[in-house]
Order: sequence, then structure tokens, then C-alpha cells
Amino acid sequence: MKNNQSERKKSSMPLRINRKSFLGVVSLIAQELIESISTKFKLKKPKEEEVLSNVRLKAEPNNPNSVLSIIDNYAYKKTFLMNIGDEKGLLLENAINESKANNILELGVYLGYSTIRILKNLDKNSKLTSIESNKRFAEIASEIINIAGLSEKHNLIIGKSNEVISTLKEKYDFIFIDHWKDLYLKDLKTLEENDLIENNAWIFADNVILFNLEDYLDYVRSSPKYKSKFIPAKREYSKSHPDGVEISIFKNEV
Ligand SMILES: C[S@@+](CC[C@H](N)C(=O)[O-])C[C@H]1O[C@@H](n2cnc3c(N)ncnc32)[C@H](O)[C@@H]1O
Repeated sequence: MKNNQSERKKSSMPLRINRKSFLGVVSLIAQELIESISTKFKLKKPKEEEVLSNVRLKAEPNNPNSVLSIIDNYAYKKTFLMNIGDEKGLLLENAINESKANNILELGVYLGYSTIRILKNLDKNSKLTSIESNKRFAEIASEIINIAGLSEKHNLIIGKSNEVISTLKEKYDFIFIDHWKDLYLKDLKTLEENDLIENNAWIFADNVILFNLEDYLDYVRSSPKYKSKFIPAKREYSKSHPDGVEISIFKNEV
């Protein structure tokens, strides 16, 4: 695998946001502001509750694609949701299939969108453990995953990754990192220190361009323990704002 650093630019923008994505992020912040004012004054339910109501009302039970398309539709037509989205979601599904992983760890669940994309590709010998720190998001995700008919191979742990990781006992051969961006590198190192990463495991990190995750990228691209490649993509639910995912393969024998 080759390193591709061409999309990376040093950023002086607040929140370490990539310059090219700045306008997109400004529009997201405006949407979030409108959302929080509308919910504060009870003009509408929080968007996460609206997504759950939509899935309850409109999804075909036990049909993961029907659930995903209801969530995507909401994010494209109503307001932004911080799911991996449809374009990068397919990259995640391809990586799950190509890696042939059977013990997967996910950091950051939100409404269970990426969880469904992972679970729908697992064979009978594979399973997924997910960690989500927000209790209400975890409850919503759990119900949505259940409606999609995918709860059986799933273990959802409610808690902060830094507290949960040290309690994990098994090694993982695929780790999807998509929680708060300042925790990516710290949690990856904790996983290494706790010997929780299988040799040849795939580490799939979302939003590495949108949030200019330079420390994380420098680490996986320069450490002899990883062979790392970048896949460019657009930010979730955007046709123009750049983002991308980094896939790093772990070699514990180095
Ligand atoms: C970008 S969203 C996850 C989106 C999800 N992976 C998807 O694509 O559908 C990030 C989630 O990480 C959760 N989170 C943030 N910090 C966390 C932590 N330290 N441990 C576990 N979850 C965390 C947030 O509550 C939020 O739901």
C-alpha cells in the first residue's frame, strides 16, 4: 500500500478543519445551531428522535437496506447526520468484505448507521462489538439495529472508549474508528498497549481529511507497525466537500 498525502494541508482553521471543507463545515454549524434552537424552544423533536420515528414508521423490518435508505434520505433532505454516509459507507462495507474480518470493534455508533453497514456483511462466524458513550444515542441505535434484524451478532457497550478499551479481553481483526476526532490516536495506542489488535488487522479511520487528523495520519504512515493507504471521498451527505478514509494494516511482528 502507498501513502498518499496529497489531500493533506496544514490548517489554521478552528477545530483543525481542512481548508477546502471549511465552507461545508460552516454550513453544518449553521444547521446545528438551527437544530439546537428549534429543539430548545420545542419547535421540533431532536433530529435523532425524528430519525428513530421515521425508521419505526417507514422501514421494512429485517431489511437493512430499507433502514439505511430512510436514514440517508433524512440526512440529504432534512438535516445533516454525522453518519459515515452512503459513499464512505460503501468503502467500509468493501473493506469489511475484503479483510474477511471476523472480530470487529467499532468506536462511535451514533444512530447505528455504520453498525448496520458492518453487520449486514458479516457471515455466521463473525461478530461486532461497538462502543458508544451517549446513552440515548446507544438506545436509539439499539432499536434501529433491531428493526434492521441485525442484533444477533452485535454487542453494544455504553461507555467512554478510554474506560471501556482496557476492559476488553479479545483481539480484533478490524477496528472502525469514528468517534471524537481527538481520540483516534490516543485510543489506537491504548488498543496496541492492551494487545487487542490481531496481526494483519485492518484499522479503518473516517473523516481524516475533514478534521485534518495530522497526528493520527503521521503516526500510521510513519510507524513500521502499519502499512497505510488513503482513500479520497466526499464528506458524508456532500457532493463537493473533500474527506477520506485511512486504512492501515497492523503488523505486530515488526
Ligand atoms: C461520528 S459519530 C459516529 C457515527 C457512526 N460511526 C456512523 O457512521 O453511523 C461519533 C459518535 O461517537 C460517540 N463518541 C464520542 N466520544 C466517544 C468516546 N470516547 N467513546 C465512545 N463513543 C464516543 C458520539 O457520542 C457519537 O455518537
